[in-house]
Amino acid sequence: PWALYDHHREHDPVHRSELLGGYAVFGYELVREVLVSPRFSAYHPFRTSRRAFGPSMLDRDGAEHQRLRSAAAGPFRPRAVAGYAERIVAPLAGELLDELVAERRTDLVDALARTLPFRVMCRVLGLPVEEAPWLAATLAPLVDYVDHGPTTLAEVTRRREELRDRLQRARAGEARDGLLADLAADERLSPAEVVNTAVLLLAAGTETTAAGIANVLVALGTRPELYRRLRTRREEVPGVVAETLRHEPPLHVTLRFAAEDVDLEGVRIPAGAPVNAFLAAANRDPSVFPGPDVWDPLRRPQRTPLTFGAGRHVCLGAGLAVAELETVVNAVLDRVEALDVLAPAPLPSGRTFRAASPVRCAVRPA
Ligand code: HEM
Repeated sequence: PWALYDHHREHDPVHRSELLGGYAVFGYELVREVLVSPRFSAYHPFRTSRRAFGPSMLDRDGAEHQRLRSAAAGPFRPRAVAGYAERIVAPLAGELLDELVAERRTDLVDALARTLPFRVMCRVLGLPVEEAPWLAATLAPLVDYVDHGPTTLAEVTRRREELRDRLQRARAGEARDGLLADLAADERLSPAEVVNTAVLLLAAGTETTAAGIANVLVALGTRPELYRRLRTRREEVPGVVAETLRHEPPLHVTLRFAAEDVDLEGVRIPAGAPVNAFLAAANRDPSVFPGPDVWDPLRRPQRTPLTFGAGRHVCLGAGLAVAELETVVNAVLDRVEALDVLAPAPLPSGRTFRAASPVRCAVRPA
């Protein structure tokens, strides 16, 4: 998609798209403006791309958004996140890697990316880790649907109801420790809102993080010298993770609606029209990130990449996601001497989670 993003950013920054049924913006400042400005709304009475997951803070504005977000925010403060990384992520990543080595399996992307984020979210929410595979299978058709995959609406509805039933039972007393119990005890939230928030956390926090893990493993697997150096220079790990998230953001695009008639760069966007904000295109804007297509872990950008969005809806789990990626890289560096990317092949995928499976590769302990 990168050539297409470049083309639009240069020639047609506010693009009217029949295909997307609305407008699309590509440059850093425009994308940021759409996310930050009150002239664009996350809510639309008839249309939201997130309906696959049901209603949540993600498609609310104003005080309603604030109420839902602040109820869920506590567990995502930096200190809590550091605790999750140490108590939950590091041991789980270690376990998965030890299993891989013991069983002489070779596919690290499979062992970590497709497994770890689901286990982490189980632990964070307070569900049994054994349910992680079920959760992954239940979420997959919902993610496919958002991603314009082949899933049918009936399947989406059925899976969503299964998920809601499961979380409903957990809310009603089974999950004593963890975020679900905390949300259930919060009087600002109705029972339905507790379940909706949990669905959102699962939806927003698993496939995205899985894509991030896959991308960072591939970035390291294709750079053996860097990998060797990192083994003794762990202080460079955060730069590797940050640059991978800029260069290959897991979520390429998010959606807003014009709250009023808006003039953007001379293009009139009528009230109610959908506007696609291409985060991935913003992250490769050469006026903000010089030489944007180069993956450079020593880059110290002046502006924040838009990988996690911006403004009121900026990713609630960004700190956890970054901690998860850094912890995974360190766990791999601890145990695996060298990486090797075997037969990378692009997978067919949709727009939104384009990077969810960027390459199918096996990365093996040497
Ligand atoms: C929102 C990306 C991981 C929870 C967002 C948004 C983006 C994003 C771009 C803003 C969407 C918009 O403005 O329309 C990512 C990426 C991740 C990641 C790339 C991984 C690399 C997580 C994790 C969690 C999480 C681990 C939770 C455990 C949320 C929530 C929102 C959100 C709750 C909605 C916030 C709101 O509407 O106020 N994420 N996310 N995300 N994310 Fe993440």
